[in-house]
Amino acid sequence: MSLKRRSGRCCRLLCTILFMFTGVLVLIEFEIMLSKWLGSQYHLRTQRFGTKPNLNIIPSRHPMVPPYPYPYEFIINQEDKCSGRNPFLVVLVISRIQEVAARNTIRNTWGNASNYDSADIVIVFLVGLSPIKSHEAQQTLEEEGMSFKDIIQQNFLDTYQNLTLKTVMGMEWVAKFCTSASYVMKIDSDVFLNVEYLVHQILRPDLPVRHNYFLGQVYIGARPQRDKMDKWYVPLDVYPNETYPPYCDGSGYVFSADMAKKIYDIAQVVRLITFEDVSVGLCLKELHIVPKEYPGDAYRRLEQYNRCTIKTRVGVHMEGNYNFTKMWRELWSNQSVPCV
Ligand SMILES: *[C@@H]1O[C@H](CO)[C@@H](O)[C@H](O)[C@H]1NC(C)=O
Ligand SMILES: *[C@@H]1O[C@H](CO)[C@@H](O)[C@H](O)[C@H]1NC(C)=O
Ligand SMILES: *[C@@H]1O[C@H](CO)[C@@H](O)[C@H](O)[C@H]1NC(C)=O
Ligand SMILES: *[C@@H]1O[C@H](CO)[C@@H](O)[C@H](O)[C@H]1NC(C)=O
Ligand SMILES: *[C@@H]1O[C@H](CO)[C@@H](O)[C@H](O)[C@H]1NC(C)=O
Repeated sequence: MSLKRRSGRCCRLLCTILFMFTGVLVLIEFEIMLSKWLGSQYHLRTQRFGTKPNLNIIPSRHPMVPPYPYPYEFIINQEDKCSGRNPFLVVLVISRIQEVAARNTIRNTWGNASNYDSADIVIVFLVGLSPIKSHEAQQTLEEEGMSFKDIIQQNFLDTYQNLTLKTVMGMEWVAKFCTSASYVMKIDSDVFLNVEYLVHQILRPDLPVRHNYFLGQVYIGARPQRDKMDKWYVPLDVYPNETYPPYCDGSGYVFSADMAKKIYDIAQVVRLITFEDVSVGLCLKELHIVPKEYPGDAYRRLEQYNRCTIKTRVGVHMEGNYNFTKMWRELWSNQSVPCV
């Protein structure tokens, strides 16, 4: 009797343990499945549609302080663009998702790298995510990237306030995927670049590649705008100092490729601001590198242009509605015609 009872109790106890054990197993299994499923959902979302990264972990900040550092991911990348070659010059063109026509004009004019057989030139366009969520626009961009292999995109919102992130993305790309390059130029898409002049008169492939080199239209002692009503107002808590360190006009500056990694690395610790040109200046100050001025008239705004004025300039920053195609034809087809 007592034995029976005991064995009965023992059996019940065993059963309970077994039941609990399988219960725990089932729970664990379920959790693994659930986390896998959630993970794949997140993965799918970020990979396929490039949705916003989860920025909850970034402490809230002033809109003029771009969310950085943050490990933004390349959604469209040209990982092999520079492999097996040593580009003398990489041109990073600031662009936006919808500016297809402007990109095509550049590809057909000064940005057609196959015209420059005396130096290896790489031209890429830097874009972010469309602020107006559009799967169509994103898909078109991905196709454009596949056919021209010149689009680079990371998953940050492409807004004016985030422009600095785009420049840092360009630096990151050169530092990670184009280490064999000698020089880099960053320009706005409304600049007509005279690649021949830049390469042969300024950078010069016949000279040893420079290091710690940074060239542009330099601003010294520029002050942040403190008038609250001004469009460019910069609050003290965004930038407390009275003056900015020397920086180059953002429409077009050029540097030795070693600077890309240095700027990218220091950007992880420097407090950046909305203005990408000032932000690069803040990085340069931290690196103790002083930007130099373009020689003479090599880079400046032109009200009027002709074939001969463009010929002796690195770039022409367009104020009005100029026609790149017309300019390119005049410049390119009349190269042998002397200017006096
Ligand atoms: C680029 O230039 C090459 C050689 O001059 C030419 O064959 C090609 O059609 C041009 N491509 C574009 C997109 O203009
Ligand atoms: C900058 O990009 C981040 C990441 O996509 C986004 O969360 C943020 O809203 C953008 N900032 C502005 C001011 O557009
Ligand atoms: C801002 O001012 C402080 C104090 O004068 C100085 O140490 C610092 O280097 C300045 N920062 C910049 C970015 O100019
Ligand atoms: C630019 O010039 C080219 C060649 O002269 C012409 O075919 C084209 O229509 C012009 N484009 C615009 C937008 O005016
Ligand atoms: C430059 O070339 C164009 C053809 O593309 C021609 O019409 C024009 O007359 C030439 N200009 C000069 C100054 O030679």
